[in-house]
Amino acid sequence: MVNIGVIAWKGGVGKTFIASHLVWGLAELGEKVLGIDLDNQGDLMKWMTGYTWKKQSDVKVSESITLLWRPGGEIQLPNGYGYAVFDGRPQVDISADILNMLDVAFIPIAGRLSQENARDLSSLQREMSPDTKMFLLANLIEMRLYITREEALISKKVGIPILDMGIPKTVKVRESEMTGRPVWEMSYANRGKVPAVLKSLCFFIQQGEWEKL
Ligand SMILES: Nc1ncnc2c1ncn2[C@@H]1O[C@H](COP(=O)(O)OP(=O)(O)O)[C@@H](O)[C@H]1O
Ligand SMILES: [Mg+2]
Repeated sequence: MVNIGVIAWKGGVGKTFIASHLVWGLAELGEKVLGIDLDNQGDLMKWMTGYTWKKQSDVKVSESITLLWRPGGEIQLPNGYGYAVFDGRPQVDISADILNMLDVAFIPIAGRLSQENARDLSSLQREMSPDTKMFLLANLIEMRLYITREEALISKKVGIPILDMGIPKTVKVRESEMTGRPVWEMSYANRGKVPAVLKSLCFFIQQGEWEKL
């Protein structure tokens, strides 16, 4: 089984958004997939089963998808799955046992990668196994389809490549009452519709491209 982590040192950067679409997307490619929710809040469970989730720990969503709620980080996983996608927590207080299991980890960056992130990235890297392939993944991009020179330098310095697949903002759901600015939220209507770029990421995973980089 290939173990995939979606992790970051903070909340609201799109971990659950990305993890859920990886689960759906890999299942669409014919794979059997476990989604493992490491967050107390159970956002992956709620989002993937519908908002009526009632703290069941194991939920079979379809023939090919099973979700496990594992906020305590227990690592016994059922057999018979090709992929396990771990949806991280707001802080990287994920047990070393789980971090050590990861073959590949995607780190969503919402907004531009800055020097400030470089420090967080380095400390994240220290907690990870050297055998885990790590990739930065730009999320919630608007007009950017390019990586700036500064970002390339930061990525090089920390030694974590930025994937050239930026995930755009999908659906604008509402305006913030406080600031009048748009708030980007998963739209329930779009649940399970895997955005094209996340389909590409699923191919990248299924084809084993991540092992070659
Ligand atoms: N690419 C995206 N397009 C639209 N909404 C997004 C995107 N990425 C994240 N979001 C939304 O932003 C909010 C925070 O994302 P979420 O996945 O819950 O972050 P995290 O799991 O890192 O806390 C959610 O409402 C989510 O639906
Ligand atoms: Mg989350």
